[in-house]
Amino acid sequence: MSKSLPKITIAIDGFSSTGKSTVAKQLAKELGYVYVDTGAMYRAITFYALKNKLIDTNNFDKVGLINSLKRIFLQFRYNKELGFAEMFLNEKNIEKEIRSIEVSNFVSPVAAIPEVRKYLVEQQREMGKEKGVVMDGRDIGSVVFPDAELKIFLTADAKIRAERRLLEMQEKNQKADFETIYNNLMERDEIDSNRADSPLVKVKDAIVIDASYINKEEQFNKVLSLAHKAIIGHV
Ligand code: DC
Repeated sequence: MSKSLPKITIAIDGFSSTGKSTVAKQLAKELGYVYVDTGAMYRAITFYALKNKLIDTNNFDKVGLINSLKRIFLQFRYNKELGFAEMFLNEKNIEKEIRSIEVSNFVSPVAAIPEVRKYLVEQQREMGKEKGVVMDGRDIGSVVFPDAELKIFLTADAKIRAERRLLEMQEKNQKADFETIYNNLMERDEIDSNRADSPLVKVKDAIVIDASYINKEEQFNKVLSLAHKAIIGHV
């Protein structure tokens, strides 16, 4: 697409493991936009909470975590070789650690804390203020950028999502089994959709894509075509 076309904001929300980040990353690359994986930011805070023993199976020191926010400095740093930005927490690369099943198990309660959301939403708005951004998460079209020119809501059958996630983890040699992944997805969807602050919802101006029976390429083509239409619509 020509560089003279106006830059828009693209919000991609949806359930866990629907391929949001893969498609968002690819779309940003194709359009020459910035990609922001907001899930990575909630995962980074969760990693910090686990490392500092603020959360485990029996306890969650919410006040301790809220008081620690001022000591949590998050940054995305672009890795040329990998072709995407990696998450840094207080100058340390934690891209691999935040994808573990342990972090996945604790991220939803952390993401339900209003102070954590406020802290991260401010940073997300700052990152997208110049437009030309593809941001994926749960509340991008509803809270972070309610005026986004294009809002996409991704969904897919839960069993298919768990199978895809299992394959992905196996390819990366990460320990995983179907049952654990499926239960984790179900639990996260439940907490993410029912929390009081910024729950996952399909806003009325979002376009729904069901990714159950389409492959990654078809999913990308659908999203790209919607993006082209939205960009042209804003000339
Ligand atoms: O996209 P993901 O699976 O990496 O996100 C991890 C968790 O973070 C997810 O279960 C809910 C939370 N999240 C959120 O509450 N709001 C966002 N904008 C992004 C993620």
